[in-house]
Amino acid sequence: MSVLIAPSILSANFAALGEEIAAVERGGADLIHVDVMDGHFVPNLTIGPAVVRALKGVAKVPLDVHLMITDPDRFIEAFATAGAAMISVHLEVLPHLHRTVHAIKDLGVKAGVVINPATPVGAIEPIARDVDYVLVMSVNPGFGGQKFIPGSEARVQAVRSLLDRLQNPAPVEIDGGIDFQNVGGVVGAGARIVVAGSAIFTSPDSGHGARNPEQATRELKIAALAGVSAPSTR
Ligand code: DX5
Ligand code: ZN
Repeated sequence: MSVLIAPSILSANFAALGEEIAAVERGGADLIHVDVMDGHFVPNLTIGPAVVRALKGVAKVPLDVHLMITDPDRFIEAFATAGAAMISVHLEVLPHLHRTVHAIKDLGVKAGVVINPATPVGAIEPIARDVDYVLVMSVNPGFGGQKFIPGSEARVQAVRSLLDRLQNPAPVEIDGGIDFQNVGGVVGAGARIVVAGSAIFTSPDSGHGARNPEQATRELKIAALAGVSAPSTR
C-alpha cells in the first residue's frame, strides 16, 4: 500500500465545501477526512450527518469520518447511512470498544480506533486484531492548525509493530500538525494514511503566497512518498 492523503476539511472554506473537495481531488486526495466534534469530548462543535450526506453527493473519493464525540454509539448508524466509508472512534470514550468496532463493521463501514497523545499505545492491544485502521493523534484533538507533538513518530512506529505482531495489515493513520517538513518522518515511521488540514487548506503556495489546496495536496503527497523510501531511524 502506498500513502493515502486525507485532506481534513476542518480548515477548508465551509461556504464552498464542494469546490474545496474538487480542488484537493484534482491534487490527488485519496480520502476526505471529516472531523465531527460535539463540544463535550473536545471543546469545539463542527458538523453532523446532514453535512456528511451532502459531501457524499459531491466527493469522488471515500469519506473518512473521525468522531470526536462522547457517545459515538448513538451516531454511528447515522454517519454510515449518510455515506461514511470509514468511521473512527476514540478509545478514551468507549467502555465497550469491541462492540462499537463490530457495530461499525456490521454496517459495511471500515472501523478505526483513535488514540489521543496521552493514551498509552498498549491500550489498543485488546482491539488491535479487529480494527481496519488505527489513528494516532499527533495533537490534542479539537482544532486545526495546532503544532505537531514531537515524539508522535515513535507512537506510530509502536502501533505499527503491535499490529505487525498480531499479523494485522491495517494501516496506521496520523492526524494533527502534519506539514511538508514532518510528513516524511511520520511516513518513515509507518503511517500510511496522512491527514492534513491547515497545510492543505490554509498554507500559502510556495510560489505565489496565495492558498492553493490543489497544489498543496500534490506536494504533500510527493513529500509523503519520499518518506516511504527513507524509513525513519527514530
Ligand atoms: C484535530 C482534527 C484534525 C485537524 C487537523 O482535532 O482531528 O483532523 O483537522 O488539522 P491540522 O492538519 O491543521 O492539524
Ligand atoms: Zn481528524
